[in-house]
Amino acid sequence: MCGIVGYVGSQPAAPIVIEGLQRLEYRGYDSAGLAVLGRSGIKVVRQVGRVRDLEAALPKRLAGTVGIGHTRWATHGVPAVRNAHPHASADGRVQVVHNGIIDNAAELRARLTAAGVDLASDTDTEVLAHLVARAAADSGAESLEDAVVSALGQVTGTYAVAVLSADHPDRIVVARNGSPLILGVGDREMFVASDASALVRHTSSVVHLDDGDLATVTATGYRTFTAAGERTDRPPVTVDLTVEELALGGHDHFMHKEIHEQPASVERMLTGRLDDRFGTARLDGLNLDPRELRGFRRVKILGCGSAYYVGELGAGLIEDLARVPASAEAASEFRYRNPVIEPDTLYVAVSQSGETADTLFAVREVKRKGGRVVGVVNVVGSSIARECDGGIYLHAGPEVAVASTKALTHMGVAFALLALALGRVHDLSHADGSRLVAGLRSLPGLIEKALADEESYAAAGRALAPAESLFFIGRVRGYPVAREGAQKFKEITYRHAEAYQSSELKHGPLALINPSMPTVAIVPDDDLVARNIGAVHEVAARGGHVVAVTHPDVDLGEVGEGGILTRVVAPKAEPELDPIILTIPLQLMAYHAAVALGEDVDRPRNLAKSVTVE
Ligand code: F6R
Repeated sequence: MCGIVGYVGSQPAAPIVIEGLQRLEYRGYDSAGLAVLGRSGIKVVRQVGRVRDLEAALPKRLAGTVGIGHTRWATHGVPAVRNAHPHASADGRVQVVHNGIIDNAAELRARLTAAGVDLASDTDTEVLAHLVARAAADSGAESLEDAVVSALGQVTGTYAVAVLSADHPDRIVVARNGSPLILGVGDREMFVASDASALVRHTSSVVHLDDGDLATVTATGYRTFTAAGERTDRPPVTVDLTVEELALGGHDHFMHKEIHEQPASVERMLTGRLDDRFGTARLDGLNLDPRELRGFRRVKILGCGSAYYVGELGAGLIEDLARVPASAEAASEFRYRNPVIEPDTLYVAVSQSGETADTLFAVREVKRKGGRVVGVVNVVGSSIARECDGGIYLHAGPEVAVASTKALTHMGVAFALLALALGRVHDLSHADGSRLVAGLRSLPGLIEKALADEESYAAAGRALAPAESLFFIGRVRGYPVAREGAQKFKEITYRHAEAYQSSELKHGPLALINPSMPTVAIVPDDDLVARNIGAVHEVAARGGHVVAVTHPDVDLGEVGEGGILTRVVAPKAEPELDPIILTIPLQLMAYHAAVALGEDVDRPRNLAKSVTVE
């Protein structure tokens, strides 16, 4: 969250920074700003709202070939011009953009105020600009680099920062500690960004910085070093991203585009990973030989938000297929509760962005205590992917919409592959393995079939849109589906959507059922179908409107007077894989409900993608 872009070269910096910020807007979008360094000094423009509002506020002439910019997701201080980045030193000669949180900001602000500095914002970031300027002026720092090192030496917390100084007009100095930052290498021009999507039109050659790295970026190249002044070796790598992948491609929203990409992207993800001969999955990236894989007595899955819910699905699959005890836990809780790390447990960190701070810190906690952790990650080269001992890349392609869809589907597929591989080194038979290999291979076609039914899901979503409050219910395999369905619905419609195990209804929540509170029930055609139909009738009998997401052969029966039952059908897969397909109607119901309500589907209020702060 929060996006940073920087440019130094021979082209006008402002348009490049603006375009980069537009691509990073999913990381935060409450205000934006830029600073451009030209012959006449530094010019700063900041604006509340979207990057397009910032662009509209730019003066006609904004010359300068060095610039930094920022799109903000507020942590310290409300969205307001004074809190938008860049933040400046008192004389305006130092400008800073920052992503992360400075933990000792209050103490530093008090110290600066006592020293006679007038603070112009409510942010933690502003202290950095003053500290850099003061280090340059008072402490005899000889270079901008020394001043930045001195300033960062006084702060605790997480950061990705980019610093511009009118006294060093040929460079941007950046630093990374706990928040992502990359450099882009061009032809006699260099870029800085929170992630590679910002640079897609300019370069595919990027340098991943590690925590603790600083870098000096000039038009002719870059140099990375530590706070102690030692050089580090960070060679460029090539990233595989195209402008088309980041365009709407005829869809009204990225969320819709990403939902529709799923058949092709799942097909791509499965390529080379299904082993027909042995009825298993090939997961070389795990870096685990069969003996090691067999040696794990437990699996623990760690992720946040929707990734955690898919982790619950994954844990169920692993127990089902491999009979290895497995559970999922919110990484945001796990990291704070001094967890017991067992040597024979396989820890799995699951994350689309690979940058979620809580998940990254959970990985570090496991590693610090000597545990083995693998990643299920989408963004290649991201922090979690790099810090894990191996993993499964999702290959879902870039996900721009804040509400995750295709990456979650890919996580479900990745857990099915992992469960299959684990199952086949335990007692899962060749016949069952082959059945699942065939089942996985049929997923793209089944998703395609579900998407062909979009209008029926859209109608159900639109019918639910007016409700202030909704239940999503499911049991066992259907419960993570219900949790994710509720999550998607609440994120983009702002309706209160709560997931419950259908088995738990009569232990409390049934009291809430009334005609104005609809329930979305997950009713797969499996060995629990009769019980799930029972739950549907329990709700309908209390005058509730039930939307049952079910399979073609399920007979839901008739509901009595007062109840309303809407049937939404998803294509049937192998029972273990049903949850992956059942999620598709829920994605589209949430999407169409939000569109009907006129909400900003891709950029829901208060949220941002890639939660790099704690
Ligand atoms: C929901 C959503 C979030 C993320 C969560 C983890 O639509 O997008 O709940 O799933 O913030 O993000 P990643 O997967 O990037 O670690």
